[in-house]
Amino acid sequence: MKKKILITCAFPYANGSIHIGHLLEHIQADILVRYKRMTNHEVWFICADDAHGTAITIKANENNISEEHLICKILKEHKRDLYNFDIIYNKYYSTHSKENLFFVKKAFFCLKKKKLINKKNIKQFYDNTKNIFLSDRYVYGSCPFCKSFKEYGDNCSSCGAFYSVTDLLNPISSFSKKTPILKKTVHLFFNISSFKNILKKWIFSDVFNNKILKKVLEWFNIGLKDWNISRDHPYFGFEIPGFKKKYFYVWLDATIGYISTFKKLSKDCNLNFEEFWNKKSNTKLYHFIGKDIVHFHSIFWPSLLHAMSFRKPTKIYVHGYVKINNKKLSKSKNYIISAKKWLKYFDSDSLRYYYASKISNGIEDININAEDFVYKINSGLVNKIINLALRNSKLINKYFDGMLSKNLENMSEYNNFLLKFKKIDVFFKHLKYKNIIIEILKISNFANSYINKKSPWSFVKKDSNLLYVQNVCSIGINFFRIIMTYMKPILPKLSKKVELFLNSKLSFKNLKFPLLNHRIYNMKILYKRVSIKNFNKLFKK
Ligand code: 2FM
Ligand code: ZN
Repeated sequence: MKKKILITCAFPYANGSIHIGHLLEHIQADILVRYKRMTNHEVWFICADDAHGTAITIKANENNISEEHLICKILKEHKRDLYNFDIIYNKYYSTHSKENLFFVKKAFFCLKKKKLINKKNIKQFYDNTKNIFLSDRYVYGSCPFCKSFKEYGDNCSSCGAFYSVTDLLNPISSFSKKTPILKKTVHLFFNISSFKNILKKWIFSDVFNNKILKKVLEWFNIGLKDWNISRDHPYFGFEIPGFKKKYFYVWLDATIGYISTFKKLSKDCNLNFEEFWNKKSNTKLYHFIGKDIVHFHSIFWPSLLHAMSFRKPTKIYVHGYVKINNKKLSKSKNYIISAKKWLKYFDSDSLRYYYASKISNGIEDININAEDFVYKINSGLVNKIINLALRNSKLINKYFDGMLSKNLENMSEYNNFLLKFKKIDVFFKHLKYKNIIIEILKISNFANSYINKKSPWSFVKKDSNLLYVQNVCSIGINFFRIIMTYMKPILPKLSKKVELFLNSKLSFKNLKFPLLNHRIYNMKILYKRVSIKNFNKLFKK
């Protein structure tokens, strides 16, 4: 029976464009989705815009439009940008949806019924020049752990720590730029500590890699604090039933968005919702997230799922940050490359290939730079992989009218070559894409040297040697076909072109049989070289 997997990416906030930082994660997940589908799994791939919270209000105010208008506009843009990178979700939805409201309310009533919500009087930052309570994002200060400056709200973008916003050192209100006061207000807290044992059992079920597991255990040792799931007006989100001017915290409805987005998909595609979310589900649930949001996914989210009697995630794949020239991306400092801008100068496969060449299954940051990018595309993808196709197809087209030979001189050469790819399957399964590229380049080197040794071009002058030329070039084309089949999850656009060129679909199943007595087509350019000049243009306004 086909294994069923539900794969998600973290929901991008609906307050800005998709940029290459987001794309790292979406590409990482999409490659796995494509590989799993090629190896006969049933994969459902979902994501949504994270449409609530203060950041959305701030952006809408800046643009002088309503929050609804903003999230609608951004949703269209996000869908377009992701699609242009061949990240094709079965459902890309929004957390501002009726399905999400339904599940958020369901969660709330369920937690209340189980007496897992406590009302507490707390002191919260209040801007007394504007007379409003300040939700987290409206307050900035230094991180109490690493002292990083100008950290907003309740988590540190620098060290990833999670704390209460009132722990910020030297807090400042974004509205008045003055130090806010602390004022009493009522908030609702989700009792997390009662899930300690359940969570401990779950985190040891091979959900995370070891580094993340260690971090999560540290949080356990510090102690699990109750989680404030409410926010005061002004806030863009779902109002809490029974309370005036109180809203659910964006992180509550964002995570529940995984459930509601799937609900929408299940309605549209007639899937069995329970089969995927029931606590005894046999399907797999994989989340892809950045290292800054592990806390939400390792503590709050599984507690919520457990309380609601839903299944917990099977795997949480965590990645590091993207850096350019070793500097972290920053929207405010305009040190960022949007998806749209990338496509002005390069195609989407170039970024997919480049990221793949850097992604291992760890949480190390990914540093990108012009020289490395240009070297990897031109010397790797073009010179080693594409060139193998071009040099052989040139002769096949010129002397044999595009026809590959009837037989392979030696079938065991083909089978031995195929065996070299065994390792690559393991690398795909463990998301070691970097190793895939290293291995593919090694194999491509082997294939190119094989052709060099046989040097078919020096035999074309004599008719009696032509069969030899056709045989050698046909094996070269068949080597290329195997290489590109393994590259298909990484390079969807190039793969489509290659399928036209080879006049055959790239699939693992087809590889048992080489292409013989088969017509291929003439393609002068399969992939274009890239230049440093264009890379540098990415930074121009
Ligand atoms: O950190 C972020 O960008 C959040 N918008 C991710 C939310 S993931 C999930 F919970 F929706
Ligand atoms: Zn910090």
